[in-house]
Amino acid sequence: MTTILRIDASARLERSVTRRLADAFVASWREHSPATRVIFRDVGRTPPPAVSEEWIAAAFAGENRTPVQQALLALSDELIDEVESAELILMSVPMYNYGMPAALKAWFDQVVRVDRTFSFDLSRGDQPLEPTLRGKTLVVLTSCGEFGFEAGGINEHASHLLPHIRTCAKYLGTEVLEHVGIEYQEFGDARHEASRIAAYSDIPDLVGRLHISVDSIEAA
Ligand SMILES: Cc1cc2nc3c(=O)[nH]c(=O)nc-3n(C[C@H](O)[C@H](O)[C@H](O)COP(=O)(O)O)c2cc1C
Repeated sequence: MTTILRIDASARLERSVTRRLADAFVASWREHSPATRVIFRDVGRTPPPAVSEEWIAAAFAGENRTPVQQALLALSDELIDEVESAELILMSVPMYNYGMPAALKAWFDQVVRVDRTFSFDLSRGDQPLEPTLRGKTLVVLTSCGEFGFEAGGINEHASHLLPHIRTCAKYLGTEVLEHVGIEYQEFGDARHEASRIAAYSDIPDLVGRLHISVDSIEAA
């Protein structure tokens, strides 16, 4: 049985464009695999705390970690366990100030952790970090108020959402990354409607393709 970890990052509930798109993805996935298990992690409504000096010391304490330090890492452990248990990670993510919402960044800071999701070894030379997880598929569903963040678009220079997620995604064990985005939300015009329709029509095709690759990972 496939496990999907669904991470919602919008601060909005009812009027969220990204949450509705994620609903459509999960509904489409369940048409193929009704028994799919979905873990919900709503960082938009319940943001993880920012890491602190004590948290960082605990993360690097290794074998010498005290019970107090273990307790400090409890949420991080829980979030990482969720990532480990999922074959597919589904992120619904608004663009906030040209990048990811702070709540999702806080989630990444809790999850990308030495000796849990990456190893650190200076004998590797100038690139000492190595992800420890493998075989995950990451689906990123975005919405932005403006438009043209793709290569050659009018806002390419301000595109810090997908590139940042793509960079961090390797520490989740991501081997396949798919993106569907809706643009023009703040214009609310025909271009927004066309973008919305295109995104929704991409979902069934994406689900069909991913079923093949996730099934082959599970079978391996
Ligand atoms: C705090 C905040 C910052 C935003 N910053 C940007 C931005 O930098 N660029 C942009 O295109 N849209 C921006 N938007 C618009 C959102 O990306 C857009 O409303 C999106 O649909 C929000 O996702 P949601 O509908 O799932 O809540 C911002 C919205 C908010 C609330």
